[in-house]
Parts: sequence; C-alpha cells; structure tokens
Amino acid sequence: MALVTSKEMFAKALTKDYAVGAFNVNNMEIIQGIVDAAQEENAPLILQVSAGARKYARGAYLRHLVDAAVEDTGLDIVLHLDHGEDFEICKKCVDDGFTSVMIDGSRFELPENIRVTKEVVDYAHERGVVVEAELGKLAGIEDAVKVDARSATFTDPEEAAEFVEKTGVDSLAIAIGTSHGAFKFKGDPYLDFERLQAIHKLIPDTPLVLHGASTVLPEFVALCNQYGGEIPGAQGVPEDMIRTAAKYGVCKVNIDTDLRLAMTAEIRRHFVEHPADFDPRKYLGPARAAIKDMVKHKIHDVLLCSGQR
Ligand code: G3H
Ligand code: 13P
Ligand code: ZN
Repeated sequence: MALVTSKEMFAKALTKDYAVGAFNVNNMEIIQGIVDAAQEENAPLILQVSAGARKYARGAYLRHLVDAAVEDTGLDIVLHLDHGEDFEICKKCVDDGFTSVMIDGSRFELPENIRVTKEVVDYAHERGVVVEAELGKLAGIEDAVKVDARSATFTDPEEAAEFVEKTGVDSLAIAIGTSHGAFKFKGDPYLDFERLQAIHKLIPDTPLVLHGASTVLPEFVALCNQYGGEIPGAQGVPEDMIRTAAKYGVCKVNIDTDLRLAMTAEIRRHFVEHPADFDPRKYLGPARAAIKDMVKHKIHDVLLCSGQR
C-alpha cells in the first residue's frame, strides 16, 4: 500500500484495453466514496487535485486525506495534479509528494507547450514523478460540431508524435470533442474516433488521457431537477464512447462532473425528504454513499470491463 506513479497502471491498461479512473477530489466525503468503491472493485485508482480544489480545501488537507485513504484501504493510489498551469505549481506538487503532475500548456503554441512541458518533465523525472501534458484544446459546446473548428482545436496526430518525442512526457491528454462540465454537446454526442485512432497509431506506447469524460448521468440530472435544481439540457459522453476510447489507447479517464452531480442529487433529495435534519453527517453520509455507488458502476461497467485487469 502506497502512493505510486501511474507507470505500471498505464502499461497494463494499454496492453489490456481498459482505462484507469482519475477522479477529482475536493473533500473527505468525496475521497472516501471513491476509495471505498475502488477497494471493493480492487481497482487501480488516480485521485486528482485541481487548482480550484487546492484553493477550496487547501493543499495540505487533501494530501493528508489521500495519505489517510492509502492507510485505511491498503490501495495503491496515484496522487495527481490536475491542470497544473505553470512550472512553479508542478514543482511545488512534486516537492510536496505528488506522484504525478499535469502541466497544461494547451493554451500555448506548440513550441512554448513543448518548452514548458520539457521543463516539468526534467524536474519531475529526476525525482521519480511522472508527467501528463495536453495538446489541443477541449472543444466548447458549439465547437464540437463544426468541422473547421475541429481541425483548429482538436489534437493533430503528427504534432502529438513530435510533442511526445521532444518532451519525453509520460502520458498525453488529447482533444477529440470532449469538454469540461455538464453541458458537453447540444445535439448528438460526437467524438472524433478516427483522429484518436490516428494518434494511437503514431504513438502506440504513449498512454492517452481523456479529459471532460463525465457521462453526466441522466438519473442524477433528473434527481437534481426533481428536487429543486435547475440544470436543463445537461449532456455528457455516453458510456459506450468511453469504452471505445479505452480500446484506442485511452488509459486515463477524467471524471469530476459525475461526482458533483451524484453528491448534489443526494443532498437535494435529503433536504426535501428530511426537512428537519441539520446534522451534516445526516446528508453528507448518504452523499458519500451515492458517490461510492456511482464510482463502482464506472469502474465495473465502463472503465475496467472492456479488458482484463
Ligand atoms: O478540469 C476541471 C475539473 O473539473 C476541476 O474543476 O477547477 O472547478 O476544481 P475545478
Ligand atoms: P468532467 O467535467 O467531464 O468531469 O471532466 C473532468 C476533468 O477533465 C478534470 O480534469
Ligand atoms: Zn480536465
């Protein structure tokens, strides 16, 4: 039991066509719900911390909660920085004991993205930490359907090969039509699998990462709306598309929105059905259980089901 890097997890996932879930964590209940699910499924696990999470919970609390999760469950867990925006934040997380960091240079032109990624790779690798980078921009709700916008924002396969070669990065986040949040598509969901296959063919040994991979599970959206929420038109990536992506080199699937929706749906329901409750444990406990059930479903039916662990 330990904090580990994703190296072995990805090597296995790559050969066996499954994906490891990377779940965003912001507080104790979210962490416990996720790790309890992974423990029951005996699954590889990545817990990731965004800038927003560090601002909300403060870095030290999350790091120590993840340490507690390792001690409590005996699981091997990757502690990953999600969307590190510059060298300094990546360096800080490496120094603080993260086993994996993402440098997100996707807003830069290729040469600057290569430069900053290489800087992080050099620092992290010397200290036994692995690095994820991003090439291409996650499409917004409008962009995913327009062909010219696709070629401007989606990952170019040749550039991906050049990027990996020049940076020595361990895994690569690609843009093929997903986006962050609960409103990913206006019409039918669309992912550019041809592009994904082309990327995978050129860099078959590089684990690929799918950001914005929540399905926005309709049952949770419906519960939120039923119990006073207002999130009409929410739509995510169908689970079958995630299974397909895992066959074409996607080894890491990023999920945050589905956690948020599961937690919020349960808390909304609890408040309506138990208006007299005011002990946070009364509603955070069921919310934690809802997260656990949702993550078990993801691991069992979507992420690990297509291959053998
Ligand atoms: O990358 C996006 C994740 O959902 C993190 O979101 O920045 O609000 O913590 P956040
Ligand atoms: P979702 O918003 O689809 O959950 O994506 C989360 C993510 O990509 C975190 O980096
Ligand atoms: Zn992301």
